[in-house]
Amino acid sequence: MIPSKVRDLMNEQVKNELESFYIYLSMAAYFHEQNLDGMAHWMRVQAHEETTHAMKFFDHIIDRGGEAVLLDLKQLKKTWSSPLEAWKDAYAHEQFITSKIHAIVKVVRAENDYSAEPLMDWFVKEQIEEEKNTDGIARQLERVGESKDGLYMLDKELAARPWPAGSCFDPASYNAPGA
Ligand SMILES: [Fe+2]
Ligand SMILES: [Fe+2]
Repeated sequence: MIPSKVRDLMNEQVKNELESFYIYLSMAAYFHEQNLDGMAHWMRVQAHEETTHAMKFFDHIIDRGGEAVLLDLKQLKKTWSSPLEAWKDAYAHEQFITSKIHAIVKVVRAENDYSAEPLMDWFVKEQIEEEKNTDGIARQLERVGESKDGLYMLDKELAARPWPAGSCFDPASYNAPGA
């Protein structure tokens, strides 16, 4: 049985991950508007990934006999004043998510909830990756500065982020014949 304190924080984390989905999809929309389709693509892939994060917590609660409760979602932000501001926000958002993950680890330890540790280990490592990615792109964009060519090159590079195998967020999947 999952300790109730862990269950409550994990239900809250399902919400946080789904709000991440929503903000990254908003960023994708913003980048499309800016004709930065590579950045938009990167954010679409990230948005999909966030739904898988939510599902990992959702499944963990249910697998351990807890009640999964879907909390109300908030729209965090809809538009940005520059691509750099959006990437900096993405990094700040991932730092916020890291703090939430660490807060869950703290309670998991206090409750001696050994069954939750493998999942939380996965998320602790994942957050290192998420911060590195978003901070890395923000820094690259800072170096690009006002260079139109540099922005074009970076956008092209980000267009190459692969979809996870079989992703239903890949337009090739939902536009397939018979889909
Ligand atoms: Fe996440
Ligand atoms: Fe990731």
